[in-house]
Amino acid sequence: MTVTFDEVTQVFHLSNQKMSYIMEIKEPGFLLQVYYGKKISRFDHRGDYPEVDRSSFSPNPPGWKNREFSLDTALQEIPGQGTSDYRESLFEIVYPDGSSATSFVYQSHHIYQGKPKLAGLPATYVDDKEEAETLEIVMVDPFRQVEAILVYTIYRWRSVLTKSVRYRNLGEVTICLNRGMSACVDFDDDNFEMIQLPGAWAREKHIERQSIGTGIKILDSKRGASSVTQQPFMALVRPETDEHQGEAYGFHFIYSGNFSIRTEVDPFCQTRVLVGINPSHFSWQLEPLEMFQTPEVVLVYSNEGLNGMSQTFHHLYRERLARGKFQYQQRPILINNWESTYFDFDETKLIELAESSAELGIELLVLDDGWFGKRNDDKSSLGDWYVNQQKLPRGLASLAKAINDKGVKFGLWFEPEMISEDSDLFRQHPDWHLHVPGLPSSQGRDQHILDVSREDVRDYLFVTMVKLLNKAPIEYIKWDMNRNMTEIYSLGRPPQQQQETAHRYILGLYDLLERLTNKYPDILFENCSGGAGRYDPGMVYYMPQSWASDNTDAIERIKIQYGTSLVFPPIMSCAHLSESPNHQVGRLTSFESRSAVAMSGNFGVMMDVTQKTASERKSISKVISFYKQHRHLIQFGEFYRLLSPFEHNDGAWLFVSENQDHALFFYFEILSQATKPFRRVKLAGLDPDAEYLVENVIRTGEELMNYGLYVNYEMQHDFSSKVIDIRRSDSDTL
Ligand code: GLA
Repeated sequence: MTVTFDEVTQVFHLSNQKMSYIMEIKEPGFLLQVYYGKKISRFDHRGDYPEVDRSSFSPNPPGWKNREFSLDTALQEIPGQGTSDYRESLFEIVYPDGSSATSFVYQSHHIYQGKPKLAGLPATYVDDKEEAETLEIVMVDPFRQVEAILVYTIYRWRSVLTKSVRYRNLGEVTICLNRGMSACVDFDDDNFEMIQLPGAWAREKHIERQSIGTGIKILDSKRGASSVTQQPFMALVRPETDEHQGEAYGFHFIYSGNFSIRTEVDPFCQTRVLVGINPSHFSWQLEPLEMFQTPEVVLVYSNEGLNGMSQTFHHLYRERLARGKFQYQQRPILINNWESTYFDFDETKLIELAESSAELGIELLVLDDGWFGKRNDDKSSLGDWYVNQQKLPRGLASLAKAINDKGVKFGLWFEPEMISEDSDLFRQHPDWHLHVPGLPSSQGRDQHILDVSREDVRDYLFVTMVKLLNKAPIEYIKWDMNRNMTEIYSLGRPPQQQQETAHRYILGLYDLLERLTNKYPDILFENCSGGAGRYDPGMVYYMPQSWASDNTDAIERIKIQYGTSLVFPPIMSCAHLSESPNHQVGRLTSFESRSAVAMSGNFGVMMDVTQKTASERKSISKVISFYKQHRHLIQFGEFYRLLSPFEHNDGAWLFVSENQDHALFFYFEILSQATKPFRRVKLAGLDPDAEYLVENVIRTGEELMNYGLYVNYEMQHDFSSKVIDIRRSDSDTL
């Protein structure tokens, strides 16, 4: 039983082993929410939500016989606009006569196995129809020529429900979709706290938890990208929920552009959650018979705390959002030349770096920014994707071959969506970037954004990249994007469609990525945007790993990686061992702590290994071989957050293998203290009955999880760390 509809009670029940989502149809067809939470095996009622006249300020539907029902207070699936619900609406449609009142009622539904694709958009998927069931409910407004098809998919073995909407114009005149959001969930209470992941450049995904209060709260981006400032994510949790227990409702939007997540607590202490494309800078001309497909929202329910929620996201994203050859492959340990050379490199330097890296066990060398056009700083040449002859006189193919000959693979940085004013491409096509004709354009890192909503621009980029990728053995691409949109306007589209541009840009980007990733299935794509400025589930669909932050400081990274793990699995978050003092914050940290933090994700190196002493090189090589031994556990094991650096002067996390034979524990103390309290950390996810070998002592899983380990008593310096390898004592991995 996954999706059922009871003809008598008119109740839809979507359920699996973990959760239930229940809706009912109320005459004349309003689709109301009944319940979302822990599984209810049988739900036989209807209309339990009390019907009383709550206030004359809450109008009743037209022709309603009594005053005991109002859309203003009902829990709804598709709250409309301009009829009688004064809360935030899911959509807003403006008709040619200038009116907008719309109220949808049920018309029909269809239940089927599997999960449909979303036209032109990334989405979670199934490999086998058995994995999920889908419910499509057709809603119409009997007085308008419009329909909305609500699409729900529930996974059979995951605590995951996905939602999206298709809005369709059934009439003969163009209508205007001014708001077309993807999902609404109405809860009948407000006993929640909200968790969000705000940030900034080099300070991404910091966890913030606060009460939701009365009224409207908006988390959003209007930057044309999901952005560093907000992640398209929000969780509602009960006040008592912590990492290990309690209810958590996660909402994550599979989209890389402007988004909006709104909560509204009404006067009756009911909570509405809306997720979708940001209505700001958005308006879509829906031509007769045209359909608008919204992106998908992933809803995860956990009654096992935040770790339960995160692990559900991790599995879903690794197994049913990321695609392609690398999805289940251990990721190569790479070295990136950015922080060791910046723009100042040549072929000899890179080959030396490759040779030195190979000796240390590094598997891939990434040539970052500065290899093309005449680029020696960030002021020119984006768009001129041909090799810089001064730095690389023998070309990319020859460089890649020389690097391969040293025993490492070759990868390359691109920023395809951008154009520098000082570039040949700009001189040839001064109209190819987003800008308002006749208005000056704002600057951002001295570059503009190519209008990839245009097919001709996308085709040019595709052909340009294909030429390059066919010429040299490039096995990895770092796809960067370093500024946000301003003066959004696309030449070639009529004025009434200009408000579509930001969304059309994202559709164009997805189209380009689809074409490139299909053509080059053997290339590993890494997503980057000045760090994590577009690290969102939309990009995960195309690129199985992302640069988690430009900030490589170990201490700042503890928070960034802790926050990122709320939704993304460690294998997707790239973390590099870098220099001390750190290039972003100037902090001095020990080699041990820097490597422990970097090892907690998709590990790489960002230092000039050619300049290291023999003993430093020995240490780097030891870390690399340690990571290789534990790579599978870190990249595919279960991840548990144990101690939050947002709440304490320390932090801890743990990786546990699927069979619970092997675990790796990380502890970080930030500032050293005199006469400090001892810290005992309880582990998680182990087999309680098993015996484990921990620092030469045998302990049971139960003891490790309920009593734990003393960890900080010997630490006497700022920024200390500890890594403990834990093995089941009778396992053959010992
Ligand atoms: C962005 C990236 C960095 C680096 C630079 C190059 O900031 O996040 O890792 O690639 O661009 O300009």
